[in-house]
Amino acid sequence: VGNGLANTPQMGWNSWNYFGCKINEKVIRETADALISTGLAKLGYRYVNLDDCWSEVQRDSKGQLVPDSKTFPSGIKALADYVHSKGLKLGIYSDAGAFTCAVRPGSLFHESDDAKSFASWGVDYLKYDNCFNLGIEPEKRYPPMRDALNATGHTIFYSLCEWGVNDPALWADKVGNSWRTTNDINDSWASMTETADINDKWASYAGPGGWNDPDALEVGNGGMTYHEYRAHFSIWALMKSPLLVGCDVRNMTAETFEIISNEEVIAIHLGFKEGKFMHMGLMDAFKFGLARFLSKRMSVVLWNRCSKSGTITAKWGTLGLESSTSVSIKDLWKYEYVSKNSMS
Ligand code: DGJ
Repeated sequence: VGNGLANTPQMGWNSWNYFGCKINEKVIRETADALISTGLAKLGYRYVNLDDCWSEVQRDSKGQLVPDSKTFPSGIKALADYVHSKGLKLGIYSDAGAFTCAVRPGSLFHESDDAKSFASWGVDYLKYDNCFNLGIEPEKRYPPMRDALNATGHTIFYSLCEWGVNDPALWADKVGNSWRTTNDINDSWASMTETADINDKWASYAGPGGWNDPDALEVGNGGMTYHEYRAHFSIWALMKSPLLVGCDVRNMTAETFEIISNEEVIAIHLGFKEGKFMHMGLMDAFKFGLARFLSKRMSVVLWNRCSKSGTITAKWGTLGLESSTSVSIKDLWKYEYVSKNSMS
């Protein structure tokens, strides 16, 4: 990609899952404020990302993208300045097609102009969608925007949203900092698990610089239970998926905050540096996944996929450990050691 970003997967917030098209500059500013006041920013949630519907339905007379004058009357530059003044970063959205999915102007064949606009506004991140793509392959439509962004001289995170078309894990690491492996998630257990399963197939292709993206989080949007959201967050962290919060952080419940602010789970998400990242896949009826994040540590998600409670057995051998290995185990959701003594 050439921009040096995404050493770890992106963290922040995205407007789509909760707000859809109903965004405006007040919501975005208040979201930035909330990321600071809740402490989420300190935990790493730094990108404040606009999704579809920030722009006018037509380009201006000079052919340039312009923000919707009713909902973003102060413009994107002022918004970026505000977000930056809080120590956060601003993300914007466009589409590698004639229009965005909500039928605002797309950037296909306008890459250079639009990248220059984003850079001149001080934007730090672009999510680039796949609607109205004129039947042109994503491998052809996404690189021009990479080149246009790089040519601006500003460092802009490039998030491909090609919905998994043409197996992006196989080609997109040279194009973007992350690529969507799936269609859109929705706020249900069925969608979350399906999305995770599809993403998991591409685990070995994720790494510093380019990550698999199974879509933004639904935690806090109301369609899953507390435990289901906890599973959702754990699985996303383990898969080193972008952690882009998708709820209204201005009004989240204590439970939602507890889930997305679990520092040790976030550490798994970020912690490839001192050890080899290993992902064993999320297997079978009772699935578990595994990541080594420090040389002598290993994280395991025990994933009960059934609708009732049950016991999950993860044998040392299945986890890749010798049967004689001694371990101490910490339950990151109980915030305590399950067994202080070594177990083998
Ligand atoms: C489709 C994308 O996959 C979603 O994440 C969202 O950006 C919508 N388009 C917006 O129209």
